[in-house]
Amino acid sequence: MTLLEHGPEQGGLLSRSPLVDEDFDRHRFRIHRETMTSPIVLAEEMARIFDRCWLYVGHESEVRNPGDYVRRPVGGRPVFMVRGARSGQVHVFHNTCPHRGAVVCRHKSGNSKVFQCFYHAWSFDSEGALVGVPGREAYGSRLDFDALGLRPVARMESYRGFVFACFDPGVPDLVSYLAGAREHLDLIVDSADGAMEVVKGTNEYGIDANWKLLAENSLDGYHAVPTHDTYLKYLVGMGTDVSGGVTGVGLGLGNGHAVIEYTAPMGRPIAKWAPQFGEQAREDIAQLRVELVARYGEQRAARMADYNRNLLIYPNLVINDIMAVTVRTFMPLAPDRMDVTAWQLAPGDEEPQLRKRRLDAFVSFFGPAGLATPDDSEALESCQLGYTSGGVEWNDLSRGMTRETNTSIDEEHLRAFWRQWADQMGAGGREESR
Ligand code: FES
Ligand code: FE
Repeated sequence: MTLLEHGPEQGGLLSRSPLVDEDFDRHRFRIHRETMTSPIVLAEEMARIFDRCWLYVGHESEVRNPGDYVRRPVGGRPVFMVRGARSGQVHVFHNTCPHRGAVVCRHKSGNSKVFQCFYHAWSFDSEGALVGVPGREAYGSRLDFDALGLRPVARMESYRGFVFACFDPGVPDLVSYLAGAREHLDLIVDSADGAMEVVKGTNEYGIDANWKLLAENSLDGYHAVPTHDTYLKYLVGMGTDVSGGVTGVGLGLGNGHAVIEYTAPMGRPIAKWAPQFGEQAREDIAQLRVELVARYGEQRAARMADYNRNLLIYPNLVINDIMAVTVRTFMPLAPDRMDVTAWQLAPGDEEPQLRKRRLDAFVSFFGPAGLATPDDSEALESCQLGYTSGGVEWNDLSRGMTRETNTSIDEEHLRAFWRQWADQMGAGGREESR
């Protein structure tokens, strides 16, 4: 069943169908607000999007040593990622005991050669094999214990250290899925000479808003000046020249992925100094730039050093490469509630003083109590509250629709996300004027 079949014509529970309405001649691209409020939409999203797309699990650097593991919710399911002690390979297992179901990996992270289920004490090694069953003789000789190991997720692949899982065995390979997003991941990873690592420590917080509002917000250059007024004033206070504003492009990258690539007054720990980093950082950062140019040439180095990028890997992974590199993923718990998890990504061999500045930026801008994220959360929760008022059915997302080049403050890259969403959900199409 598609969302269209939940529509009013079919006697379904949605008040409108289609829910994504695009009409170039009318300069119209609008999203019905039921996409943000309906439990039916969320149930369909779980089945059509989160059960079928490649979803980010974690970074290989989080499980560097044999037996290292991290427990994660991915696509609403408990899973865990572990590096096998014998093979050295990264595995992602469903976090459920093949015996009677209990969660096997109960700690958030750690190192273990054996995972013992606390219920009846079956135990599994880091490759997933069942290695211990109390009172094994009671099962006789015919039970196939080899088939009772931990179950790996249907597909697992990694790209340049980023580990993804998919619960649909028939999905195309990860690299094909990433499409144009690959180039931007490469720019981020190459800027650290290919050796990025996740810094220990996680931001975890909830937002009372639909998950797609955060996908939009992460790519939405239009909101930056009005919403983040406090941060801009802070930059001015630090002596930053903000007169150049924010300029750049917004691009759809295929398969719903999108990016904004832009220059802005903030500095970047990858080779762009700004007053917020302090005078003493000037030289270190200038040196980094010299090294980048030597490695990649002037043009690619400038793209790494001078341009920020907010990258959305559809559906729910955002990498913000700005004054810190933040990896953020989010999952719906209800139509009006999501959980957000964020990590800091950094070059493995970063100088301690640069690492410190990066972490300062991670906490003071992107952190849940930083200068930006609370503003964004407030805006998203305000939208969600606004939807309960009724009276207005559609959100407008038509900004820049007739421009030849979509800027980072237009909305074509947001429309790219929504077109993919509509395709997967069976929720697109033209709607007559009402
Ligand atoms: Fe895990 Fe019984 S449920 S050992
Ligand atoms: Fe923002």
